[in-house]
Amino acid sequence: MAKETWAVDDSRLVYGVNRNDLHFLDITEDGELCLRLRDQTITFNEVIQRIKEMNGDSPGYASSFTLRIPQLVTYQVKKLKAAFHRAIGEIEYGGKFIGIYPVKVNQRKDCVTAIIRSDSEYGLEAGTKAELLLIKKVIESEKHRPIVCNGAKDPKYLKLIRDCVKEGYNIAISVESVHESRLIVERFKPEQTNLVLRIKPYLRVEGHWSHSTGRDAKFGLSIHDLYDVVELLKQTGFADSVKTILAHPGSQITEIEAFEKFGRLMTKLYAELRDMGLSNLENIDFGGGLAIDYTSSRVANFMYRYAYLLVSGVNAQLSEMLDKYPPPNIMIESGRGVTALSTMVIVEALEVRSIFPPTRDGYVSEITKDDETKTLEKIKKASTLEEIKEIWNGFHEKYGGLNLAGMKFIFEQEKVTGNLEDAVRSRLVELNLKSYEIEGLVRSFWRTEHIVIGNFSVFNSIADHVLVKQHFPVIPVQDLHMKPQTTIRLADITCDSDGEISQFYRPDADDVWFTKDNRLLATPKGKMGDGIPVGNLENVPGSCFVLALTGAYQDAIEMDHNLLGDLPDVELYLQEDGEWVLSWVTGAESIEHLLKDVGYADIHVDEDPYMWD
Ligand SMILES: Cc1ncc(COP(=O)(O)O)c(C=O)c1O
Repeated sequence: MAKETWAVDDSRLVYGVNRNDLHFLDITEDGELCLRLRDQTITFNEVIQRIKEMNGDSPGYASSFTLRIPQLVTYQVKKLKAAFHRAIGEIEYGGKFIGIYPVKVNQRKDCVTAIIRSDSEYGLEAGTKAELLLIKKVIESEKHRPIVCNGAKDPKYLKLIRDCVKEGYNIAISVESVHESRLIVERFKPEQTNLVLRIKPYLRVEGHWSHSTGRDAKFGLSIHDLYDVVELLKQTGFADSVKTILAHPGSQITEIEAFEKFGRLMTKLYAELRDMGLSNLENIDFGGGLAIDYTSSRVANFMYRYAYLLVSGVNAQLSEMLDKYPPPNIMIESGRGVTALSTMVIVEALEVRSIFPPTRDGYVSEITKDDETKTLEKIKKASTLEEIKEIWNGFHEKYGGLNLAGMKFIFEQEKVTGNLEDAVRSRLVELNLKSYEIEGLVRSFWRTEHIVIGNFSVFNSIADHVLVKQHFPVIPVQDLHMKPQTTIRLADITCDSDGEISQFYRPDADDVWFTKDNRLLATPKGKMGDGIPVGNLENVPGSCFVLALTGAYQDAIEMDHNLLGDLPDVELYLQEDGEWVLSWVTGAESIEHLLKDVGYADIHVDEDPYMWD
């Protein structure tokens, strides 16, 4: 049975808000998307309105902007620490938790500052000289914080590390190859050196970057190199300088049980290396890997489960080795897990374009009309998915290919195809099937008919969408109290067809749910599908969509495709008294700046490259 009634809770389920990593988003009774921070409710429309009042005439103001909420970074840092403390307490584990933030995940000052303000002991990880310089600056008055220097190291990077050590910074240098270990022993004194042996994560795990784990990992010592490095360190008097072993299993590891195995593996290596003479080894750094729930489909306590599995893996391995070894401290370099929530891109919808003619009456030739009537009859009589597929593929083949009959015919074929598609979808709903999955369709039954043009660049704001097909939740800011009318594709203003978001995660529901125009909305088995649901298409132009969970990596890997640069940045801060304040951090990157970057220093146009009037 198609779902007839609709409540805000249904929209919560469809858009995944109010749970897991979207716990800070919710929907008001009036159907407005809102932030729920502590006990405050702030609608996105209020935020947008306030920004317009503050900055409507300022240079660099585009209708779309990036919203930063550093307090959500703090929330995640505390949550991660609490998850480990709980797990360590429950397991009665003897080692402690050490948090390290890898700045490459989001180097922005608002983000790094929020991390260090959240915890007086939290450390930072650098992957390059530039990142180390950044870290040096932000913690210049807190040199006790641990710094892990990863990444490929040249003599200049090592000199910078040596200078930092001399200045009193608490630095651990990771050794990632035999070559690096030679450079290090030539330049450092054993008693002033704190070394990390970075080892390849010899493990097979599920996740976005699983192809780069195990023996194929880009970084870390292969096991044969590890033997050579240990030998060299022993011979040169550096064996006691090794305090930590590190392996990073890859980002966004969704197979959570893998962390138990990872805990065991690293503990085994820890014990063997201690037996080989690295008797000062006291920490295991497990890198990153903590996944974000981009689809709101995982267990609610994912972060705690992750902590629990890692600690119990370490603990189980230690017990198996008869507790002969001191329990190592557990270092975690989660970046995605602590930053993703804090950033959202607010995209203004400029216009709606429709694939098929919105009104489908008017002239249609007798032959086509006749064909349409016969096909509609067949659709009405079809009773299986297989029969419907035949009909669907048949009319698409007839009306979908090269046509030299001219504009008039193309116009009528588009009207007829639109009508036939509608009739098929309505028949599918009538049939009330258990599953609508079928192989061999020339075009998805649910392909959306409307393209919303958003004032943004996918390449600049969510580059991972094109690079690794990363899914980011997309949610309209209004009309969420009603059963969605239809679905849309959100296309950007770049001249590239990859610049659009059309996939939407259809959540698990008790039954199959459809939009008012009979497009799939939710199924008993959650999965990705075509089209972002919207409440009322007419209200879309001028309103906004929120692209959520963009705080990890997206700022670091942005692209200036078509010379569309960074959107303006706005920071939201919730004060103790419950008042929220917005501050305008930067305007959109100017055309002048973008042109200078590609070698045109003499074009002086201090304007915003996005659409504005
Ligand atoms: C050494 C190291 N630590 C931590 C991270 C961050 O991992 P995640 O994105 O899973 O938080 C990375 C990311 O690639 C990494 O290479």
